[in-house]
Amino acid sequence: MAENLQILSDGSSKEEKYRNLIAQIDALISGESDRIANLANVAAALKQTFGFFWVGFYLVKDGTLVLGPFQGSIACTRIAYGRGVCGTAWKERKTVIVPDVAVFAEHIACNSDSKSEIVVPLLSGGEVVGVLDIDSNLLNDFDEKDAVFLEEIARRIMNHAISGENLTKVQKLSMDDLKRKSIGEFKQSDKLPLVVVLDNVRSLHNIGSIFRTCDAFLIEAIYLCGISATPPHKEIHKTALGAEESVDWKYFETTMQAVKYLHDHHYAVWGVEQTQNSKSLADFVIEQDKRYALVFGNEVRGIEQEVIDSCEGHIEIPQFGTKHSFNVSVSAGIVLWELYKLKAL
Ligand code: SME
Repeated sequence: MAENLQILSDGSSKEEKYRNLIAQIDALISGESDRIANLANVAAALKQTFGFFWVGFYLVKDGTLVLGPFQGSIACTRIAYGRGVCGTAWKERKTVIVPDVAVFAEHIACNSDSKSEIVVPLLSGGEVVGVLDIDSNLLNDFDEKDAVFLEEIARRIMNHAISGENLTKVQKLSMDDLKRKSIGEFKQSDKLPLVVVLDNVRSLHNIGSIFRTCDAFLIEAIYLCGISATPPHKEIHKTALGAEESVDWKYFETTMQAVKYLHDHHYAVWGVEQTQNSKSLADFVIEQDKRYALVFGNEVRGIEQEVIDSCEGHIEIPQFGTKHSFNVSVSAGIVLWELYKLKAL
């Protein structure tokens, strides 16, 4: 770890001080895997840099926040979920700024000199595993800038905790860890030459869910046909969670128009449907140089007969239980993964 902390003079701005501190945080905690030691030094570094009245950590243990390393006067040792500023930041999983603790109903007063407070959650795989709590003896001492920089410090602590000593036993991976594409990167990426056609799919949640699956498997486009709703729509968004912006889509008034368009563009159109001569997904063989389109039907009626008749063939997902068929978004998940493996892996 770094031996010294370089602190900017009092004339420096808050941003300059934070930037200077953040540049030193990694060096401060690198090479030390003990989480208590690292949290203690980060608390000390914040206190030395800004002279805050109280800086410390509470860590989630057995369903409650328990006092961890801190700098300042003695403090309450346990805070329940949803209680105090700390418990509120835990519950809401976001930074809470309290400009005047006297008018924050939930505030727990550990020291009457504390006038304003900021609490930043420590997140591991989306779970709060602790909080960074800072108190000031000045009113209104924290703003969005503090939140941004302190959240960055919390992220660095947690990244280090993941590569060093884990705060919880098995860490779930965050978006940062997973390194997912941005929408721009998604748009630029090579896609699977596969179009998903939704033939009069009624449920907006099914449509949203299929968007999300198509995003995951880099599907070329979704063709929404007939009564299938189109984005932007609140109910599609609920299950697509933004995938309706990454995956390309087109709308056709009838599914036959979409099929004709696909035939004109040399796609092999297959229906996902149980028919007299459907092929089991397990036996489906892909021709690597072909572009494919898969039609998924309405939740009740399945794929329209005219569309069935226009398909090159039909794929059936093996089933061993009592029900007639899968939910359409589940079928899409199963079939798209199989085709992804055949095409791309
Ligand atoms: N004020 C905090 C309690 C902890 S102390 O400030 C150190 C709260 O309301 O959660």
